[in-house]
Amino acid sequence: MDIQQIEALSSLIATSVAELKQLQGALKTTQHTASTAKAEFLKPSLQVVAAASQLIALVRTPERYLMDISTGHQLSSSLRVVVETNVPEILREKGKGPKRALHVKEISTYNGVNHLKLSRIIRLLATHHIFEEVAPDVYANNNISIALDTGKSLAELKANPEEKYDGTNGIAALVGIFSDETMHNSVCIADILKDPETTNSFSPFDAPFSRAWPGTRNIKMYDWLNLPENRPRLKRFGMGMNGMNSMTPSDAILRGFNWASLPEGSIVVDCGGGVGSVSLPIVQTCPQIHLIVQDTGPVVAEAPAFWQANQPEALAQGRVSFQPHDFFQPQPSVNNNVSVFLLRMIMHNWPDVECVQILKRVRESCNKNTRVVIVDNIMLYASRDQSIEGQDSGISDPDALAPEPLLANWGAANALSYKQDINMLSNHNACERTVPEFAELLSQSGFRIVEVHQAHQSWLPQIVAVPI
Ligand SMILES: C[S@@+](CC[C@H](N)C(=O)[O-])C[C@H]1O[C@@H](n2cnc3c(N)ncnc32)[C@H](O)[C@@H]1O
Repeated sequence: MDIQQIEALSSLIATSVAELKQLQGALKTTQHTASTAKAEFLKPSLQVVAAASQLIALVRTPERYLMDISTGHQLSSSLRVVVETNVPEILREKGKGPKRALHVKEISTYNGVNHLKLSRIIRLLATHHIFEEVAPDVYANNNISIALDTGKSLAELKANPEEKYDGTNGIAALVGIFSDETMHNSVCIADILKDPETTNSFSPFDAPFSRAWPGTRNIKMYDWLNLPENRPRLKRFGMGMNGMNSMTPSDAILRGFNWASLPEGSIVVDCGGGVGSVSLPIVQTCPQIHLIVQDTGPVVAEAPAFWQANQPEALAQGRVSFQPHDFFQPQPSVNNNVSVFLLRMIMHNWPDVECVQILKRVRESCNKNTRVVIVDNIMLYASRDQSIEGQDSGISDPDALAPEPLLANWGAANALSYKQDINMLSNHNACERTVPEFAELLSQSGFRIVEVHQAHQSWLPQIVAVPI
């Protein structure tokens, strides 16, 4: 055991906790809510998470550590069970006493899951701090499991199961996607990577997804989601994208490119914008902007309902419109004066060749003042050295890297970016990218980067590019 490193990590935890205590004292709250997710809290919290995880890796025996990691899929599977069988909602609505706890036999009467099996599922989660086992086989929500609650009544969930995630913050939907489609796909990663026919392929048709489901050999995942029989999955996917927003400050899209600087009448096109949830804060804060949300037909069909629920005035004033549009095709000619093309979480869905095709379509309809705003993870290397063959990785912000002895890329505190990278491999044969990788794609498509807005593991970074 490396006691020196263990001591260094422990003391980093101690100083970070002292900082958190001071900040919390100033806020006069013990709630771990949006207020404690403020920017000041970010660095000490990240330091605690990164150091604690690194500490576990150092003090656990290697064998135990590997077993913990390799059985991680049981956590995903268990999460899927509790989400799809409404356990958080049952506890909220039917739970008794101050903790609103319920014996698993009673939970089972509401969701029909065998109580002996269900108890083991919830206990595994409680063992990982999701739910609380307040007495043997008696469970209650805690501050983590409650984040899975859609807020719907059991009567609503029973009457409209397909609408379970509609109008929610999307966290349960996102957990559903990760623990269902994405997990299914990732089971086939090794098969695809070991097969000489597919290992060197960067075609979206050779994603592990192609082997994960019956009949997916010749279809890309988004086209599969758009099939009528997958409508419930598509609806869940749409709300899951909203879940990505719920993890970040609500105005995250405003923390980067200066939308307010756009002149009156500016057109912003949200390419592959889903229902347009990401652009909502832009429309809310910049009345001079007209937003066009583009996505595939079945996806944009869901968008008016989202705007009706969240910003009906923008709909009534015609400040937001919706276009079914395939981003591999030329932009509709009516969009001839676009100020900004926004692509959030689009590049990471596609291999390089397809990214360049999408960007070239955008480039065709740019004027000299048009900006492209790419919002995606920016990857760091785990090593201290962030350069490849002497070429700087573009991380100029001194706060981008974690302090020693932490891993330079913030380790477990930043693990979601690396998991998303593998999710993209599983689903689309695609990836998350470094700044130089983005620069290369953009230059091949006729753009150059003018701004990089780092987000320090708090919200998604933004890259702003201009036509060359
Ligand atoms: C990861 S989601 C991101 C959605 C949204 N930009 C956000 O950040 O919430 C990718 C989106 O690309 C859309 N998409 C996939 N293929 C497309 C295509 N050929 N043309 C237009 N949109 C497409 C999907 O329907 C989906 O809404």
